[in-house]
Amino acid sequence: MCAGFSRCLSLVSLHGGQVLSWKTDHGEELLFISSKAIFKPPTPVRGGIPICFPQFGKRGSLEQHGFARNKIWVMDDHPPPLQPSDSSGKSFIDLLLKPSEDDLRIWPHGFEFRLRVSLSANGHLTLISRVRNINCKPFSFSMAYHTYFSISDISEVRIEGLETLDYLDNLCEKKRFTEQGDALTFESEVDRVYLGSSDTVAIFDHERKRTFLIQKEGLPDVVVWNPWEKKSKSMTDFGDEEYRQMLCVDGAAIEKPITLKPGEEWTGRLELSYVPSS
Ligand code: BG6
Repeated sequence: MCAGFSRCLSLVSLHGGQVLSWKTDHGEELLFISSKAIFKPPTPVRGGIPICFPQFGKRGSLEQHGFARNKIWVMDDHPPPLQPSDSSGKSFIDLLLKPSEDDLRIWPHGFEFRLRVSLSANGHLTLISRVRNINCKPFSFSMAYHTYFSISDISEVRIEGLETLDYLDNLCEKKRFTEQGDALTFESEVDRVYLGSSDTVAIFDHERKRTFLIQKEGLPDVVVWNPWEKKSKSMTDFGDEEYRQMLCVDGAAIEKPITLKPGEEWTGRLELSYVPSS
């Protein structure tokens, strides 16, 4: 069910179209996967990069984060060309999700979701999603790359690029607040959707001396999530102490759902890279 590529520096599962692994040249894992993750559809896998579609969280009538992460995707052998082409000098695979009869019963919209996952020679991981309306009426959706970064310790990291932005706080009935700090650091549960961020966000990991760069296009929002101690204990597929070694920072389109008319296509691009930092 998995396709590994580029000397196995990345691994993508057909279950959820989910990236499960992204490694440095030296084989160090950059994504977090819980030791308690369940690799059995339709349970979503706790870690890597689950794709939340066509709904984020509980903002709608579907199951939490929509159904795409629970489904078996197929390899897409002849995807329509990407504009601009994104394949030069990269290893890549293309996956496709189309709704099943069951999906159409709960979400009656014909779509094709194409995902290209590519890895460049310098280790950048790129995910390009293309959602096409193949229906005869418009539909709207939300989407997030729910990226679980592997970090040294939650108390050692900070996020830059979200300063002064408004956010919706899921821990406070989705109320709107404005970020006041220079950088985001962590000392308790965080579950927020930052709105209208710039195209680059950075996670600094002081102990590992590493910075993750998150670059995005077509994805105005950024989700930041860490369950902390109490919520960790309530999740069956997550270790009690694992919240220390993970941080979810998602490129997303949530506040203003994307609307596609018949025949229209939307593209959302996420590029992840890492650089040494002092
Ligand atoms: C976050 C949500 O993005 O995902 C949280 O805002 C949720 O509320 C978390 O707990 C994990 O979701 P799930 O469905 O994978 O347990």
